[in-house]
Amino acid sequence: MTSIERGLWCVVPAAGRGARFGGGIPKQYLTLAGKPMLLRTIEALTAHPRIAGVMVAIAADDRHWQDVAGTKPVMTTTGGEQRADSVLAGLQAVRGKARDDDFVLVHDAARPCVRGDDIARLIEQGIPAGGALLAAPVRDTLKRSGPRQRVEVTEPREARWRALTPQLFRLGELIGALQSAIAAGISITDEAMAMERAGHRPLLVEGSESNIKVTTPDDLALAEFILARQTA
Ligand code: CTP
Ligand code: MG
Repeated sequence: MTSIERGLWCVVPAAGRGARFGGGIPKQYLTLAGKPMLLRTIEALTAHPRIAGVMVAIAADDRHWQDVAGTKPVMTTTGGEQRADSVLAGLQAVRGKARDDDFVLVHDAARPCVRGDDIARLIEQGIPAGGALLAAPVRDTLKRSGPRQRVEVTEPREARWRALTPQLFRLGELIGALQSAIAAGISITDEAMAMERAGHRPLLVEGSESNIKVTTPDDLALAEFILARQTA
């Protein structure tokens, strides 16, 4: 079987503390339409026929993870200080289950509304492109602020995209790119950024705006609305 046909592993960073969300429980464990958000995210991924398994990076002191029974392997590993550390830990745990030249997906635990058709397009277009990410073109007018929160300049919005997840890269290349960026002390906020730094030009695959990252309590209500519409 070639890498085009084989099932793909997905790493899910879920070791964050949800500081911007606040509250006592990390946001990925809050109930979203009757189930923990992390479980919704994992189910959205494992429902996809191309996903072979999910590796979840959870905090060292996590007290909320309950193993999820399913037909596809769902495993955990210990995440790290920053998101990139958690992703790297997850990728290293996938080594041995997948080959270095296999593609892997990375998807935020805090994006429970990801759609199957977006995952399918990312895989279809991303594998021949050598690597890709879901992204949404910027629709609002962009301002750059200066001192005292006054507008300094209006930025062109053409050719500006918001990076979403999943992102799809070759396992070995992504591990190398993340290790090199972390060693250089660079703060890496998504996988594509590490790959760009290593000289790659990931493909932007336009994804649905409904694939939001739950960051604040308002987002949780919006995610519930989006999920209700998806199943309606
Ligand atoms: N994440 C992680 N390990 C970290 C930090 C973040 O695995 N050290 C995960 C989060 O659990 C989340 C995803 O990365 O699923 C995206 O991060 P973000 O939305 O920023 O979540 P938090 O870091 O938890 O939130 P905040 O930045 O508000 O603290
Ligand atoms: Mg964070």
